Amino acid sequence: MSEVTISAQQAKPAALIEARDFSVILGANRLVALKGVNLTVEAGEIVVLVGPSGCGKTTFLNSLCGLLPPSAELSGSLTVAKDVRLGYMPQKDALLPWRTVLGNVEVGPELRGLSKADRLAKAEPLIELVGLSQFRNHYPHELSGGMRQRVSLARTLAYEPDVILMDEPFAALDAFNRTALQEEILRINDKTRLTVLFITHDLSEALVLGRRVAVMSNRPGRIVDIYPVDLPEPRSAAKLRGTDAFLLLFQKLWNVLMEESDPTKRGEA
Ligand SMILES: Nc1ncnc2c1ncn2[C@@H]1O[C@H](COP(=O)(O)OP(=O)(O)OP(=O)(O)O)[C@@H](O)[C@H]1O
Ligand SMILES: [Mg+2]
Repeated sequence: MSEVTISAQQAKPAALIEARDFSVILGANRLVALKGVNLTVEAGEIVVLVGPSGCGKTTFLNSLCGLLPPSAELSGSLTVAKDVRLGYMPQKDALLPWRTVLGNVEVGPELRGLSKADRLAKAEPLIELVGLSQFRNHYPHELSGGMRQRVSLARTLAYEPDVILMDEPFAALDAFNRTALQEEILRINDKTRLTVLFITHDLSEALVLGRRVAVMSNRPGRIVDIYPVDLPEPRSAAKLRGTDAFLLLFQKLWNVLMEESDPTKRGEA
């Protein structure tokens, strides 16, 4: 790397996550899930990852959290900045069935050794935030899929992460709740500079939330392009959707994704 690049790097915001030529091979069949992924996520930004089903998006998040099977073969580099706490909201909710809503949200504070009173003080506002105060003593099997996802969001936030990795977190929600939680993510990001890496198949959601939208290719996944989303701030899901700038970007992303999703272009390794 030249000296010029190094001095430019110093002026840039810190990258909390950096993938360079990162590749993953999975399973007995040696399936190439990711091949040469390059992506950085800087402190405070919301990056959205979109791409065809099966292209390796979840694999990328699992790689960041050390959740790949032990047999996975990795190459290139994937770096999480020192002392950065990652929160993961997985594609399938992983709530503890024997714990109530409150008990699930308290897991993070409990692991950090907080007293009962402090745990409550952390958990209750988050349960309220996701609109489940009336269900705080219910068990996961008593909740709908969308409600469980909301508990999962509250539980992830209760870890007080620096970066939150979200894998299609709102896919099971109705339009009203989805919009409300998108607004909440924007509000939290605005207030706390929480860094977010967000996966979705919903391009409206990608544009409402993302300051940058990274498009992944068909499997084996790599980042084909990164689109800066230059829409008016502060963001508001309700305000952005009908604007010309939004619709233009939507169409552009749609076209790229359609191309990448074309099975005749599947680039098997
Ligand atoms: N443990 C595993 N062993 C072998 N192959 C796997 C494993 N986990 C995932 N795969 C394969 O890796 C590829 C990428 O899967 P991944 O779940 O990352 O895709 P995705 O982009 O998240 O898809 P979706 O949008 O449908 O959630 C798929 O072909 C999948 O079958
Ligand atoms: Mg996935």
